[in-house]
Amino acid sequence: MILRSLLFVPGDSERKLAKAETNPADALILDLEDSVAAERRPFARGLVKEYLLAHRDRTHRQLWVRINPLNTNDALQDLAAVVDGAPDGIVLPKTDGVADIIRLGYYLDALEARLGLALGGVKIIPVATETPRALFQMGSYADGAPRLAGLTWGAEDLATALGAVSNRTEAGVLEHTYLLARSLCLAAAAAAGIQAIDTVFTDFRNAAGLEAEARAARTAGFSGKLAIHPEQVEIIHRAFTPSAKEIEEAKRVVAAFAAHPGAGTVGLEGRMLDRPHLLQAQKILALAGVKDT
Ligand code: COA
Ligand code: MG
Repeated sequence: MILRSLLFVPGDSERKLAKAETNPADALILDLEDSVAAERRPFARGLVKEYLLAHRDRTHRQLWVRINPLNTNDALQDLAAVVDGAPDGIVLPKTDGVADIIRLGYYLDALEARLGLALGGVKIIPVATETPRALFQMGSYADGAPRLAGLTWGAEDLATALGAVSNRTEAGVLEHTYLLARSLCLAAAAAAGIQAIDTVFTDFRNAAGLEAEARAARTAGFSGKLAIHPEQVEIIHRAFTPSAKEIEEAKRVVAAFAAHPGAGTVGLEGRMLDRPHLLQAQKILALAGVKDT
C-alpha cells in the first residue's frame, strides 16, 4: 500500500489523538520522540499502546509509532511498550544506515515471537538523513533489508548535528546540503525498490507553500509526504493524486502497448514511446488506483 500522507500526532496528547480520529491520513505516526518531553514519555507510551489496542482494524488507515533513536535507553522501553499493540510499523529517527534497521529488526523478531504476533509484521521506515554519518551510508539501503518499507528524510536534526545556524539560505530556500540529503533519500529508496516519503513542511498555516512543495516532491519521484497538522493531509493527497489529464494520457500509453503485444517501442500521436514510458504510465495508473489490464 502506498502511503501518500503520514500525520505525526504527539503521543502524549489525548486531544490530538482524538482529533486525528476522523482525519483522512493514510497513516498516523504516533510520536514518542521529539514532540514529547522526556518526563511525559512514560505516560505517552501507555497512551500510544492503548490507542493501538483500541484501533485494531487498519483497513483504512495504518498506525505507525516513532520511537526514540536506537542509541538511547528510551528506544527499547518504547518498543517494549508499543509492540503489544501491533503497530503497522516503526518510524526510526536518527538512523546511521541499514545496520540500524537490521538491529531494530532483531528486537522486533524477539518481541513479536514473545507476543505471538506474525513474524516480520511490524515494518520499518527510517528517517534516513538526520545524522552526518547517515549521509555517507545512504547506499547501504540499496540491497533492502527485512521489514524496510520506505525511506524518509529530515533537515532539522541534520542542521543541528552539523552546527548550522539555519538549514535555509538568506533567500529562504534549503541550503545545498539538505537538498543533497533529499536527493540521496530519493535515490536510496528507488535503489531499494521502496517508497520515498518527503519530509515535513513546518510552516503549517501556509497551504500554498505546502501544495507547491508536495507537487515538486511528486514530480521528483516521492510518493508521499509527512504531515504535522491535520489540515495538511488533504493538500498532500491532492498533490500526490494524478490529475484526470495524466490518467487519460497514461491509459492511452498503456493501450498503445497493449495494441502491439511484444513491441518494445510504439508510436502514439507522432511520439515515440518505449519501455520507460510504459512503466511511468503504469505507475500513474497504480497511484490513481486504476487497473491497467
Ligand atoms: N494531530 C492531531 N491533531 C492536531 C495536530 C496533529 N498533528 N496538530 C493540531 N491538531 C489539532 C489541535 O489540537 C486542534 O484541535 P482542537 O480544536 O481540538 O484543539 C486543531 O488540530 C487545530 O490545531 P491548531 O490550533 O491549528 O494548531 P496548534 O497550535 O494546536 O498545534 C502544532 C500546532 C504544530 C503544535 C501541532 O500541529 C502539532 O503538535 N503537530 C505535530 C508536531 C509533531 O509531531 N512533530 C514531530 C514531527 S516533526
Ligand atoms: Mg527530530
